[in-house]
Amino acid sequence: MQVDVLTLFPEWFDWYRDQRHVRNALAAGHELRTFNPRDHTVLSGRQVDDTPFGGGAGMVLRVDVMERALRGIYGEDPVDLRTHRRVVALTPGGRVLDDALVDELAAEPDGITLLCGRYEGFDERILEHFCTDAVSIGQYVLAGGELAAMVVADVVLRKLPGTLGHEDSAVEESFSAALEGDPEYPHYTRPAKHRGWAVPDVLLSGHHEQIRRWRRERSRERGDAGLRLDRADVAPPGPPDPSGER
Ligand code: ADE
Repeated sequence: MQVDVLTLFPEWFDWYRDQRHVRNALAAGHELRTFNPRDHTVLSGRQVDDTPFGGGAGMVLRVDVMERALRGIYGEDPVDLRTHRRVVALTPGGRVLDDALVDELAAEPDGITLLCGRYEGFDERILEHFCTDAVSIGQYVLAGGELAAMVVADVVLRKLPGTLGHEDSAVEESFSAALEGDPEYPHYTRPAKHRGWAVPDVLLSGHHEQIRRWRRERSRERGDAGLRLDRADVAPPGPPDPSGER
């Protein structure tokens, strides 16, 4: 699987690329490549964006610059590229990323391309004509698409064979098909008792079937009720301090 990222800040990915699970993925033959649209623009001053028609704040990534970048990287018209490759624009208004979408992206035979927006985002024609997907990692606005692209790269790469060590598995984890979309069950390790807080007996029982059933039930409960920590013993946050110092 090839994960390509078009970003004005490729150096952000240097740290990410050096993380152990990403190094594992790369050693297993997967690729994480970054490209800077500024290297493809022919506008003076390496310009990639412009002011919005109709006025308004911020700058918008130009469609001609993105076209040149995609053509330069893939050697074909990006309108054709998207007929055989997932080209994903990261944007807060997109389809909110979930495990089902991650599975779809991870199943792409050749690879995926992630376009990072900056400033006010993309000229709409980039989305309309060059992209297969617009994806959001949540309904809030990041300063740019880089962190979102890293999230997408991370959740896709860790699904691929060779990325996680065999001691860690993406099969039975939160939101997976194996847990029918529910969050994962609680985990415990030694010590079996700490400050009187005991690990549930069933997990120490050695009865695999009972453990499996207990885990499935806890997972289902979390799916129904969500994972809410009981903070009844903690003072609820009061009204904002009028002095503004808190
Ligand atoms: N770019 C800015 N905010 C974003 C978000 N929430 N998801 C994806 N891309 C973004």
